[in-house]
Amino acid sequence: MNMFRVSRLVSMDKILVHGGRKLNGTVRISGSKNSALPILAAALLTRERCVIRGVPDLSDIHYMLTILSSLGCEVERASGTVIIKADKIRTEAPYELVRKMRASVCVLGPLLGREHEACVSLPGGCVIGDRPIDLHLRGFEALGAAVRVTGGNVKVLAPRLSGAKVNMGGKYGTTVLGTDNIMMAAVLAEGTTIIEDAAEEPEVVDLANFLNALGAKITGAGTCQITVEGVKELSGADYTVIPDRIEAGTMLVAGAITGGRVTVNHVRPDHLESVIEPLRAAGFTIETGERSITVSPNGGLRPLHLDTRPYPGFPTDMQAQMCALLVRAPGESVITDHIFPQRFMHVAELARMGAQIRLEAPTAFITGNGALSGAPVMASDLRASAALLLAGLQADGITEVNRVYHIDRGYEHIDDKLNDVGAHIERVKA
Ligand code: EPU
Repeated sequence: MNMFRVSRLVSMDKILVHGGRKLNGTVRISGSKNSALPILAAALLTRERCVIRGVPDLSDIHYMLTILSSLGCEVERASGTVIIKADKIRTEAPYELVRKMRASVCVLGPLLGREHEACVSLPGGCVIGDRPIDLHLRGFEALGAAVRVTGGNVKVLAPRLSGAKVNMGGKYGTTVLGTDNIMMAAVLAEGTTIIEDAAEEPEVVDLANFLNALGAKITGAGTCQITVEGVKELSGADYTVIPDRIEAGTMLVAGAITGGRVTVNHVRPDHLESVIEPLRAAGFTIETGERSITVSPNGGLRPLHLDTRPYPGFPTDMQAQMCALLVRAPGESVITDHIFPQRFMHVAELARMGAQIRLEAPTAFITGNGALSGAPVMASDLRASAALLLAGLQADGITEVNRVYHIDRGYEHIDDKLNDVGAHIERVKA
């Protein structure tokens, strides 16, 4: 059954970055991975046809579509449009599929909401930290579900789901996919659910908008309190996901790092304020249009103090890329990741290229250092890989980024997009 076009699944390709080229031009930003993943899962909530547009061609998306297909959905994909019809569905997602991607946990909410039961493998640890799902499970329990973890699986069962007050706050703040899961479980519950300490990310708002397009009654998405009034059933919808703010931020840093002038278009500048502000402070001019942002140099690179926070704070998903930028800023930069305190796999690899970074997790102390030199480096997770590619753009010589499949999980054709604005990046088949 070959219904998906995915050009780059788990490839062992390498990327060779020939450093030292100034980027100039315009990059079109793809649809958001982190919006598309829960929105695709949300299609499980209705028997009717959902047309979802702007879905990026990424391996994580492929895994989600394969999981939906294994749950009984009819899935068609043509270019960036995915059509899903979840007429008859199963409620058990197989381990071999689920283990490949942590975001598969967001099928739990819609399965519980529609079928009142779900069984999914518990996601394991991941290189960016422990990543438990206790807050998701606590939320399901508040809605009346019984939760059991056995044999590596999590089973949720609720003969009846009732609206309730659910709090999403945990040790590291709120949870994005946890908020998504509770919203999805609550849309078909009896009565009203109030989600407190909800994640305010644009991707949560996008999911709420999709659910409302299906006929759900959700208000307050984008604030820390979301209200979901249960409805009896949902219809289909034709919906376009928002642009990927992290891809846009990464491309702006690519322009900044090479001292070039790069415009990202098909973006929502209002979603990127917390990235624009530190780029300005680091010595760049940022011009925003209605759907575009342009970065260009403005004097010299300056060091920064940055803390990651839930939206509208500076995103953890941009921490590694900013690290790659600041390794050349004269003086000391300090970056603290409050959301994923162990998310610093890029640091040792950047050090192999000549960066001076002292790590006392959750904080990296960066001493700005004139030049980086190309080296073989190992990608370890999605954003760390992007940081290595960015470091390669500014290094002398060639940087060989291994385990490129991490990049392909979250950046649609990143090498082609960067080459189109003047980079020299080669993908070498393994
Ligand atoms: N946490 C808990 N318990 C839970 C859930 C989360 O303690 O039940 C903790 C996490 O361990 C972490 C913090 O809470 O310390 C925030 O995690 P969150 O649940 O918000 O992360 P997520 O929803 O699993 C999404 C994105 C991540 C992004 C984070 C934070 C998707 C598919 N993933 O993950 O994206 O870093 O929110 O913004 O939306 C990426 O794209 O590279 C990526 C990792």
